[in-house]
Amino acid sequence: MSDSLNAEISAGAGEAAVQELPMSNKSLVKWHTIAGFTWVGIAMLAGLFYSLQLIQQWPLPKIAVLSPGRIRMIHTNLVAFGFLTNCFLAMLYWTVPRLTGRRVASNRLGWLIFAAWNAIILATFVGLHLGEAQAVEWGETPVWVDPLVVVGAILVWIQFYTPIVRSREKAMYVTLWYFTAGFIWLGLTYIMGNFVPQYLVAGNAAGPLLGLYIHDLVGLWVTPMGWGMMYFFVPIILRKPIWSHALSLVGFWGLAFFYPLQGVHHFLGSPVPMFTQYSAVISTIAVEIVVATVIINFFMTWRGSEGSVKRSYAIRWFWLGAFNYALTCLQCAFQVTLTFQQVIHFTDWVVAHAHLVMFGVFSFWIFGMIEHLWPKLTGNEWWSTRLRAWSFWLTAAGLTSMFLVLTGGGLIEGFMSMNLVPRETILTSMRPFWITRVFTGLSIIAGFSCFAVNMVMTALVSSRAHVDTEYTPYEQGGEGGVSIGAI
Ligand code: HEM
Repeated sequence: MSDSLNAEISAGAGEAAVQELPMSNKSLVKWHTIAGFTWVGIAMLAGLFYSLQLIQQWPLPKIAVLSPGRIRMIHTNLVAFGFLTNCFLAMLYWTVPRLTGRRVASNRLGWLIFAAWNAIILATFVGLHLGEAQAVEWGETPVWVDPLVVVGAILVWIQFYTPIVRSREKAMYVTLWYFTAGFIWLGLTYIMGNFVPQYLVAGNAAGPLLGLYIHDLVGLWVTPMGWGMMYFFVPIILRKPIWSHALSLVGFWGLAFFYPLQGVHHFLGSPVPMFTQYSAVISTIAVEIVVATVIINFFMTWRGSEGSVKRSYAIRWFWLGAFNYALTCLQCAFQVTLTFQQVIHFTDWVVAHAHLVMFGVFSFWIFGMIEHLWPKLTGNEWWSTRLRAWSFWLTAAGLTSMFLVLTGGGLIEGFMSMNLVPRETILTSMRPFWITRVFTGLSIIAGFSCFAVNMVMTALVSSRAHVDTEYTPYEQGGEGGVSIGAI
């Protein structure tokens, strides 16, 4: 292990070859990525199967362990814990040593975390199939798995706080601010969502906690990791500093202060006391401003490097993710109002919104990161440029059309409900939208398959060696440099 680390260090750092590369364990980055991509492949199939159920075409009838309700929970749990969390761990193994100049606590601990975390996901997968779900949305992990997740979170703290605490850097880059807080928030959010409603609080009082949990899992785990990732990779790929570090810190403190207060916006119009609903609306509006700091920072950093979208696939994924983020934000401005909620609550609008942010933003940024890292991890240039293009366009087209069809369908569903149209009629009217959604899912799966096949072939077959620098080939070419097709 240490040999490969030494080799990595001595490999130099491209233009800044005079500086040593910080030490990071490429194998851990690689295997967490592989695990994440495996889980999301299964999650997508589960999503596709569930979308078939909604058009009454369930392919596996009368098999309890494969019943649709269980498959839906497998879909959502695998994307959150199997895919996003594994890929975030991969990202942390790459970024934290580079930002701190220090190794993580221990490589052995790294492999223990890898094995333990994926065993937890496997246990969740099996437990959900066996019908042992906990009644917590997005925390359906069986109750006997919950304590293991907390232990896992503590191991992650030890692994990554060690280099952060030992760092001799005078100032902490914003990415580390997000990570430092995100680790703590993950533990607290998980404990609050999975233990408090289960053992301490019941009934109406548990509702706001569950809303808080769903939202905080996104806002206080996925979001800080995602923002930290974007703030790290985009300036490196574009080879320029972020536009405003001060603005990024405004975003950090805004996230820390306002995000935890907005969970009840999932329960607008419910029997939850109105003062909690109003406070959730106000803090959601505040979070809008906070998210805007990230979007502004991305586009202002990108300004002046417009050609990068053509030349760098990594930037292309990041760009589309940032665009989708702006769209999500715009949606939020409407959907957080009580008036708008009367229409969209319990409709497919919400499902469209969930896919836009979880897939269209954070997953797209992960794809951007992997575009940038995979040649460095495998030592080979991407095997096929065509597959890179296909994966981007099929996935982007699939997600965009899924978002449009579910948003449109959601509005129709909502207005029909408001007009007291019978449920059977609403379901019949939704059928064309749900049939279209199956095809949008197939497009996403096809795009993902291109990405995955290209990764495998790059690792095993590609004959062009990658010269390991911190930068992408696009950057070596500079603005007027090599085009994507040429590399
Ligand atoms: C092949 C692609 C996919 C298909 C066909 C698909 C399909 C579905 C379906 C049918 C549901 C249930 C909707 C309902 O109950 O009405 C769902 C929920 C969800 N999916 Fe996907 N999905 C896909 C990919 C993804 C990806 C990649 C992510 C995230 C990275 C994701 C995140 C979610 C979330 C968060 C929900 C819960 C939505 C909510 O409860 O409002 N999906 N998906």
